[in-house]
Amino acid sequence: MSRTLFVTTALPYANGSFHIGHIMEYIQADIWVRSMRMAGHTVHFVGADDAHGAPIMLKAEAEKITPQELVARYAAERPQYLNGFHIAFDHWHSTDSPENTDLSQRIYRRLKEAGFIYTKEIEQFYDPIKGMFLPDRYVKGECPKCHAKDQYGDACEVCSTAYAATELIEPYSTLTKATPVLRSSEHFFFRLSDPRCVEFLREWTAGSNANGDKRLQPEVLAKTREWVGDADTEANLADWDISRDEPYFGIPIPDAPGKYFYVWLDAPVGYLASLKAYCEKTGLDFYALLDPESNTEQVHFIGKDIVYFHALFWPAMLKFAGLKTPDALNVHGFITVSGEKMSKSRGTGISPMRYLEIGMNAEWMRYYITAKLNSHVEDLDFNPDDFVARVNSDLIGKYVNIASRAANFINKLFDGKLAYQGDTQAMQDEFAAVAEQVRADFEYREYGRAIRRIMAQADLINQAFDAAQPWVLAKGIQTADDATRAKLQDICSRALAGFKALSVMLTPVLPVLTERVAQELFGESRNYQWSDAAVLPTTVAPFKHLMQRVDPAMLDQLFEPPAEPVVTPGGEAISDTIDIKDFAKIDLRIARIVAAEEVEGSDKLLRLTLDVGEGRHRQVFSGIKASYQPADLVDKLTVMVANLAPRKMRFGVSEGMVLAASHADEKANPGIYVLHPWPGAQPGMRVS
Ligand code: MSP
Ligand code: ZN
Repeated sequence: MSRTLFVTTALPYANGSFHIGHIMEYIQADIWVRSMRMAGHTVHFVGADDAHGAPIMLKAEAEKITPQELVARYAAERPQYLNGFHIAFDHWHSTDSPENTDLSQRIYRRLKEAGFIYTKEIEQFYDPIKGMFLPDRYVKGECPKCHAKDQYGDACEVCSTAYAATELIEPYSTLTKATPVLRSSEHFFFRLSDPRCVEFLREWTAGSNANGDKRLQPEVLAKTREWVGDADTEANLADWDISRDEPYFGIPIPDAPGKYFYVWLDAPVGYLASLKAYCEKTGLDFYALLDPESNTEQVHFIGKDIVYFHALFWPAMLKFAGLKTPDALNVHGFITVSGEKMSKSRGTGISPMRYLEIGMNAEWMRYYITAKLNSHVEDLDFNPDDFVARVNSDLIGKYVNIASRAANFINKLFDGKLAYQGDTQAMQDEFAAVAEQVRADFEYREYGRAIRRIMAQADLINQAFDAAQPWVLAKGIQTADDATRAKLQDICSRALAGFKALSVMLTPVLPVLTERVAQELFGESRNYQWSDAAVLPTTVAPFKHLMQRVDPAMLDQLFEPPAEPVVTPGGEAISDTIDIKDFAKIDLRIARIVAAEEVEGSDKLLRLTLDVGEGRHRQVFSGIKASYQPADLVDKLTVMVANLAPRKMRFGVSEGMVLAASHADEKANPGIYVLHPWPGAQPGMRVS
């Protein structure tokens, strides 16, 4: 039976470029979508940028642009990544859109009418200088437990204690360093604890969709049980704070001046907004798709960190707004790079853009990720050696090579025509059976298993080809009898039929390569469907190069040397890189020390009178008393910062700074050494 599916991936925050974690999620979903389409199902596959929230607002402010401009900047680069990795969303939208404003406000109104919304005064930290309430991550202070300094407002990174921001000792706002004050304000809440909601969530999380499949993976269900409970255990559900006070970049709450929806309320609604915009573009009936009775299945691909939002709030919102609830939540683990966690915001490790820029083939990455994914919420490691091995020995060695070996004989000796001897039904049945298993593996997201099956089949095809020793038959082929010629043609034809079947099975993973196989090699014009696995090819064109092997040197380029700070014998690491423009701002000059004298009341400073050829002298205080006798300095040349803003000190104004070397830990390693130019330098010369 043909199904209609509405498929989404999590909406990425629009304050950064895609990282490899995003790309992994999109590849997983894209493969699923392609595989379902190959089975004849209709799929609407949409994504969008998650544009709202405090971090985006503050980042835009820091860059002196509007949040809309910031979002537009990242939105503009999305297609490069998506096209680059062959991720074929039907539509890409934004949560900062009229569709999303309209839908979010409508859903909210319905929830309110159904009695799920209430307001309550809450007390929260407020930054009096910035004039805004502070999300926990913008408050820091001393850990109340272990007294580590500079800990975030939700948990201590040193001792892992979780606490409320208000428990921090000497809290400060990370935005202004101001001491936050407690202020109360009215917030809007979604009543997740409502018995109707608890009852619905118990049923929804544990249940199956119309297709008979569980909506949640077993490990995800186990997790949601801790929150919603079951017949024997109480629910442990707190009501959800869905409002934020201005200033906020978000959607206004109807009839509540100065109040906005918290970003996580309107973010999932963005799935619907994107679908709506897509429907308008294509003439589909949006409201029919979302009707609770609609048989369009709603499937979300997300990472393990956002289960709470998708397994509780989102279905509850939809349910009590009278809309269709999700049919499946497909949760994946995180990708690590060489065993290292990459942080959500930092996106460390490999940059997908760099991957493309250095000319690495996107289908290698698709293949590698597919080979390592399964249906469980497990993390997946990108390992460079493993990557090279899987692509070169499996993908190229076992699959691509079949075509080059067999097609050569057919083109040289049989004018590109395939012909099979005897019965081919058994072979066709075998291909159909494997393809059906692979199709089911993809449907149930057992991608690694699908690849193992495909490679096992490739092994069989290679073994049969090698065992028949076609090269031996080919040697005397000009003088050989018809039976021998037919035998050689049959061996090669069967290998190519196998190659085609493998190509069909790999189509969701390698859409570009397999389209070339279909069109350029076998002269077939349509895109492969699953049923094509058993359809025997009849001709083969001269073999053209299909796919390059991975050059391991590429992986060295992909991984730039880690920027490990090296602590020098001077006691500190080299500072962050600057460019030449930054350096040029510092005007260093040769200076002649005209006079040097002790400063009364200071045991550190010497007062220097310097000549940098300006026709006047400068007074500079320098902390070098411990190392120099004033008389020894007079008439010596040195180097000074000549454009440092004058600084008023206790003993007078200092008009610059003399350069001197010292160890970072001056107490343990005393000694300070004034710079002295080589002979020939003249006062006033620039040092660069
Ligand atoms: N904006 C929210 C989602 C809103 S959905 C209505 C968000 N954005 S995100 O950019 O931080 O993450 C987007 C997706 O990328 C999430 O599914 C997240 O789990 C996934 N990943 C983030 N880091 C990842 C890895 N290292 N590996 C795999 N997926 C990762 O959360
Ligand atoms: Zn602590």
